[in-house]
Amino acid sequence: MCGIIGYVGSEGGDDALGVLIDGLSQLEYRGYDSAGVALADGGIDVHKRQGELSALQSALALEQFDGDTIGIGHTRWSTHGPPSDANAHPHTDADDRVAVVHNGIIENYQALRDELAAAGVEFESDTDTEVVPHLISQQLDAGVSNEAAFRAAISRLEGSYAIAAVFEGADTVYAARNESPLVLGVADDGRFLASDVPAFIEYTDRVIYLEDGEFARLTADEHVVIDGEGAPVETTIETISWDPEDAGKSGYDHYMIKEINEQPAALRECFRGRLDELTGRVDVPELEGLDPSGTVTFVACGTSYHAAMVGVRLLQERGVPAQAFIASEFTTDTLPIDSESLVIGVTQSGETADTMRAIREANGVGATTVAVTNVVGSSAARETDHVFYIRAGPEISVAATKTFASQQAALTMLATALSGERSRDLVTDLRAVPDQIQSVLDSSNAREIAEHYHDADAAFFIGRGYHYPVALEGALKMKEITYSHAEGFAAGELKHGPLALVTENTPVFAVVTGDGRLAEKTIGNVKEVEARGTPVVAVTDGQSDIERYADHVLSVPATSNVASSIVANVQLQLVAYWTATILGRSIDKPRNLAKSVTVE
Ligand code: AGP
Repeated sequence: MCGIIGYVGSEGGDDALGVLIDGLSQLEYRGYDSAGVALADGGIDVHKRQGELSALQSALALEQFDGDTIGIGHTRWSTHGPPSDANAHPHTDADDRVAVVHNGIIENYQALRDELAAAGVEFESDTDTEVVPHLISQQLDAGVSNEAAFRAAISRLEGSYAIAAVFEGADTVYAARNESPLVLGVADDGRFLASDVPAFIEYTDRVIYLEDGEFARLTADEHVVIDGEGAPVETTIETISWDPEDAGKSGYDHYMIKEINEQPAALRECFRGRLDELTGRVDVPELEGLDPSGTVTFVACGTSYHAAMVGVRLLQERGVPAQAFIASEFTTDTLPIDSESLVIGVTQSGETADTMRAIREANGVGATTVAVTNVVGSSAARETDHVFYIRAGPEISVAATKTFASQQAALTMLATALSGERSRDLVTDLRAVPDQIQSVLDSSNAREIAEHYHDADAAFFIGRGYHYPVALEGALKMKEITYSHAEGFAAGELKHGPLALVTENTPVFAVVTGDGRLAEKTIGNVKEVEARGTPVVAVTDGQSDIERYADHVLSVPATSNVASSIVANVQLQLVAYWTATILGRSIDKPRNLAKSVTVE
């Protein structure tokens, strides 16, 4: 996930550089590996720096600018190539005739890059984006107009993109969208575009949301939207009603609820180019050559450890022996890890000290190491033999939500790829998960449940199989952001001790999907709870008769085992979120915690 912005104003209107920098500061939540701008009054003038926006601002402070009226800007969250000045956007062609910013992933960039290199193009970055200015440049060489060159280049791209371009000596910003957000802003004396409204809300609240496949042509006093065939699109200008102070959270009260709502999009990005419906194959070139013939060992902490537990079950189900360690408990001093071993670190940030120590120890004995991480160029990504990115986009809230869903999805693909399994049913089920989560988000009654139980003495979470890690994760979310006592248990364990804790004021959340053996057994455990007068909240797809024993139900669509655990978890995230909201907690920055724990 990156942030893009574009602006074109009238002579004497707002200064383009100021508009772009203000906008980028509102988009930094989308990534802050580097920032850059291209000003285009006359020639193209690019300024870009690795690091947060402040690094670019310091560099710009040393230069003189004289009221440019047109430009584009970018804040980067790396996907192709590590954070660096060279990989920062905007990217230009060799003659600086066009500058381009991009948010998304160009899936066929390698083929395009090979084609352009064969035609003599020299690349200056590792990015997928850089193919775009070179494709445009080829069209300009062929003598077509700027607009035709832009549209012809875009027509070559496969994947997701929100792209903006400015041309030397032109007063127009061009843009295109496919599966990445892009919104236009309409002011009396200028036009804006951005990945998100906060980037220009200070200047105008009148917006047009672009749809997939649409192009836009912006000048200071005109905006034209056309479809893929070049036909004009009738647009509707909407007026934004929320307060600019909510900027960055896109109108949500907290990053956590924003990120919960981003899960469908994050999962689509995680699956992009990796699932083949026709063959049932999972295509993950990053993992090619890995040999899972011994026991696969996962190391991870917190939420990532819960995802690792899912990974263990996925592999075991496919006949591959696997185990997971809380990273701080892993040591090669006592475990039989050697050069034949495969050790997989699961870490959203890629910087968690406990996980990094475990990975380094595994490297030290010659094991093959893999990072399943969200952050390109992180320590985990740099210090392992293979990296599998979960592509969830930046997560700001300390409580991990969308990264857990993406870890579960990524580990499902990893287990399928490592075991050589082909399953069209699994691919179909995974593809359906984003829409299923969306339906949960649209209809959840989690807020009601939170209102009912927010002052409970404690909350317990139970599940079996894939739902056991979900029970642990439900409890972790609850304690992390509500500061209330919560515990997760394997449903069968309850009767071995924890049952002594249940009372009329300790709701038990039971995750039960399907109508198989595991569901039946969990229902047995629920009956034991119910018999003690303890309230039960069932997270269920309605396939079993759990509802008969539950006081409340949180519904989820019916799907397969691992997919249903990804979807069911969303209901528990929402219960924790609404409980913390009612209790007035500091949701995005809970007390005593940090997003990235870099001490052991
Ligand atoms: C969960 O909400 C926490 N933020 C925490 O448990 C987290 O998952 C853990 O610290 C591991 O972080 P990592 O994925 O960045 O390694």
